[in-house]
Amino acid sequence: MTPAIEVTATADLPLGMSAADFLRDYWQKRPLLVRGAIPELAADQPLPIEPDDLAGLACEDFALSRLIVHHADSDSWQVQTGPLPEDAFDGLPERDWTLLVQDVDRWDRDVAGLLRHFDFLPRWRIDDIMVSFAAPGGSVGAHVDQYDVFLIQGMGSRRWLIDDGESPDLTLRDDVELKLLRQFNPTHDWTLEPGDLLYLPPGVPHHGIAIEAGLTFSVGMRAPSQAEMLVDLAEHLAEALAESQRYADPNLAPANDPFEIDGSAIRRARAAMPAIARLPDAILIRWLGGFLTRYRSAGEAAASDAAIRPEQLKTTLQAGGRLSHHPLARFAWSALGDEPLLFVNGLALPCATMQAALICRHDQLGMDELAGQPESIWTTLARLVDSGYLVPDGADHE
Ligand code: SIN
Ligand code: CO
Repeated sequence: MTPAIEVTATADLPLGMSAADFLRDYWQKRPLLVRGAIPELAADQPLPIEPDDLAGLACEDFALSRLIVHHADSDSWQVQTGPLPEDAFDGLPERDWTLLVQDVDRWDRDVAGLLRHFDFLPRWRIDDIMVSFAAPGGSVGAHVDQYDVFLIQGMGSRRWLIDDGESPDLTLRDDVELKLLRQFNPTHDWTLEPGDLLYLPPGVPHHGIAIEAGLTFSVGMRAPSQAEMLVDLAEHLAEALAESQRYADPNLAPANDPFEIDGSAIRRARAAMPAIARLPDAILIRWLGGFLTRYRSAGEAAASDAAIRPEQLKTTLQAGGRLSHHPLARFAWSALGDEPLLFVNGLALPCATMQAALICRHDQLGMDELAGQPESIWTTLARLVDSGYLVPDGADHE
């Protein structure tokens, strides 16, 4: 029996089913609409970000933003990429435009708070939360995304059309800057209200049209291409090789044909790259943790000018100070190698598993969270403060 495409959340089952059932039946397989999945976005709740603040963010230098206006009469699209000028919103029509801002979770703690609903997924699989504000009729057209996405209605209502058919035609229009589908044959037509969530695996054609002015939160995944992983792994392995480690042929026999690459040359080439033959987990995880915490990062934290001593940091936190994850820092940990490692934006720090998990889990750390931890954690924390990945706040610095 095909699993239902529409379910209703309950207090115990926010996805309308267990996370394990969702992952088994829907994740990367088929779309799912969950009514009332995110109760904190229900119509009577305060919004994690106001439309005006989103507009402000779209104008900041660091913001990845787009303003898309649809001219319905000619079916033409106007796209302005950010950072947007302050006057970008002056003179906009009443309808048919959308403002989209990526990476809003990096800049807004309340928006980032929505990520806790997705703790059943590895955090390093999640790319960002994009927030869009659409005027009535606002849309970005019918398209497919390459990544899984959870589309959550945050304010206003929005009509979502999707094509859940077997093999949709993915030919793109060639007359617009946006990657829009030439053909779109929806099989489902829903109106999402605040708090409703639509999950789409990669490659499902969809088209959202605002009924009323509203906000949509898109929790997007990331999946590195095999080519990206291979290139990065090769660079990682190459870093450990000395210049003197080269192709060598001390047993070279006279060439039959000076232009031939013969079997013994291939064998020597293989011998010159033993790393790719059987890579142990310990080497692979050091690379993978670094790669995944660096991959598609929206920027880098600035390292602090002066190094902080572990004891000095402890005193600061005992005085009530707290440490926050830098918004651009991506944390992960693993116990797969020959020692447990904490990864932050490509940095791999040896760190006991419990401590690494704690540092990853709390995006704000104070004495409450750190109570009972061994002294060694202060060395790790100081190192992260020095690198700029943990930012002291609310403390009296000396
Ligand atoms: C939007 O939020 O307007 C578009 C999101 C999407 O279709 O992926
Ligand atoms: Co999309």
